[in-house]
Amino acid sequence: MSNGQEAPVFYKPSPEIVANANAKSYEELARHASEDLPGFWAKQAEQFEWFQKWDTVLDESAAPFYKWFTGGKTNIVYNCLDRHVATWRRNKLALIWEGENGEVRTFSYHALNREVCKFANVLRSMGVKKGDRVTIYMGRVPELPIAMLACAKIGAIHSVVYGGFSVEALHGRLEDSQSNVAITCDGGYMNGKIVELKKIMDEALKRAATVEHVIVFKRTGHDVPMEAGRDYWYHDLMALPIARSAAGGNRCETEVMDAEDPLFMLYTSGTTGKPKAILHTHGGYMVGVATTLKWVFDLKEEDRWWCAADPGWVTGHSYIVYGPLLLGATSFMYEGAPTYPYPNRWWSMVEKYGINVLYTAPTAIRGLMRFGEAWPNRHDLSSLRLLGTVGEPINPEAWRWYHRVIGKERCPIMDTWWQTETGMFMITPLPVVDLKPGSATRPFPGVVADIVDDQGRPVATGEEGYLVLKRPWPAMLRTIYRDPDRYVQQYWTKYPGLYFTGDSARRDEDGYFWIIGRVDDVLKVSGYRLGTAEIESALVSHPAVAEAAAIGLPHEIKGNAIHTYVILKAGHEPSEALAEELKVHVGHELGPIARPEKINFVPQLPKTRSGKIMRRVLRARALGLPEGDVTTLEE
Ligand code: PRX
Repeated sequence: MSNGQEAPVFYKPSPEIVANANAKSYEELARHASEDLPGFWAKQAEQFEWFQKWDTVLDESAAPFYKWFTGGKTNIVYNCLDRHVATWRRNKLALIWEGENGEVRTFSYHALNREVCKFANVLRSMGVKKGDRVTIYMGRVPELPIAMLACAKIGAIHSVVYGGFSVEALHGRLEDSQSNVAITCDGGYMNGKIVELKKIMDEALKRAATVEHVIVFKRTGHDVPMEAGRDYWYHDLMALPIARSAAGGNRCETEVMDAEDPLFMLYTSGTTGKPKAILHTHGGYMVGVATTLKWVFDLKEEDRWWCAADPGWVTGHSYIVYGPLLLGATSFMYEGAPTYPYPNRWWSMVEKYGINVLYTAPTAIRGLMRFGEAWPNRHDLSSLRLLGTVGEPINPEAWRWYHRVIGKERCPIMDTWWQTETGMFMITPLPVVDLKPGSATRPFPGVVADIVDDQGRPVATGEEGYLVLKRPWPAMLRTIYRDPDRYVQQYWTKYPGLYFTGDSARRDEDGYFWIIGRVDDVLKVSGYRLGTAEIESALVSHPAVAEAAAIGLPHEIKGNAIHTYVILKAGHEPSEALAEELKVHVGHELGPIARPEKINFVPQLPKTRSGKIMRRVLRARALGLPEGDVTTLEE
């Protein structure tokens, strides 16, 4: 604490927060959900438009392939846009966007719907149909959500690849999804520099056979090669008659979807080198995402909400694009780096747009904290009412800084634990509950979480164990695209009937959960999820490398930093220059986020008898711990 006194165990919400909360009592909601899970979620689902009501809320007959709202027909975009443009909300701002260069664009619900309809017509005219996959690889521009919504509107499955990924990562995702159409930008702006998105797409496409058309949104205006017959400018297509409906005008009919029809796939890193495509659906995802946003971030009709994630990650999918639109809210989106051109960029935008609720990641908070309090203190942050964090455990020091310097000790902090797979917040406070810095508190109503040992037995209070989920939830992943066996094996096999999260945690005497971190070969670096195997295969694709191992070690800002151990092929000598070359190589293959912090040249790697690298041992040695103290599931 700033005054040097002991921090209180609990941070209690103010009476105003409690009086005005959308969800008044955690206990009551949790009780309702535990007594009647289907009834609880059905009540939330009734708040949406369904072309046809569901027959069964939760179908467990083919578990772990759970189904929600079976027999129901809807389309998430109908609930995000069509529904609102028929009301006074057509004139409300859906999206406010600021470019890194200061450019501002705003979209009312009417305007956003118009753009989505036009682009959906363009996609349909290119032959994109229900069930087709479309890869989206763009910078943070409004056309990224527009492209996602246009796909969903016509029943196509979008696969957004984060714009910070590079050639290999994009190539693998294009191939696996078998997309016929890809959407990109000429370039993106980040930190005052241009990210060469189109060039990376061109390189990735050299080996991706299925893509027939590439649509390019012009953001930077710098010269990029366009391949005749394959590449089209977004603005050219949007000006053609194909962007108008057959009946004329900017309308486009929204496809009627089964609740269980796929909405999107999103690749995420797992324990093998091959990223897995997590599949989400229209119905359950819609209900889960909207309910969690409404209760946890307490959005009000007049609020301005800012989720500072990238739309290319699940946080952006659920809480920049779908969640806020489902609630008819106003969402703010920023293109660039938090410190460009100065470390007050974020705080100046909070003031300029009167942001009420801000949701970001611990790594961003720690990064901004480093520049000192003077930067935020130059700005009027009094519009803020609630704050949030996600992506990795938040250290109490960063929590308290965020609470004191940004929230002025008025704004409760919602530390939300969830995953690409869960689609929605799972362990999270509501604004009415008492908080403890560093704890995500308790499961969202209807979520049943536990902490178990190797045999699946609940561990004692205060003891560390594996975090599992015991009941299905509506926004859960349905499968891994084209790999149902891997879905069963990764999530449902370690403990039959329980969903295995890959995280370890402990629970305190108040029933509060404290997430410790990953127990598999997944790293969280600056909140980004990366597989050690992906980094290792990028390293061994360099001609000088025979074998490689990657681990995460604690880092003050990034949470974890990537440290690698490399055995060189005969004829290559370790050197500073080669270490640098390998870092650049990994950055080129996977993207700047995967660039290793350190390359250690070693003569050999510790291995199990079956030849698997023991990253646990490398980690223990690097941290100076006894080798038995660091656990992973690799052996
Ligand atoms: O390890 C947990 C960590 O992030 C993982 C999920 O990563 P990803 O699928 O990329 O989704 C991130 C955004 C939802 C989890 O398995 N994680 C996420 N939120 C928290 C967290 N760790 C601690 N506290 C959190 N609030």
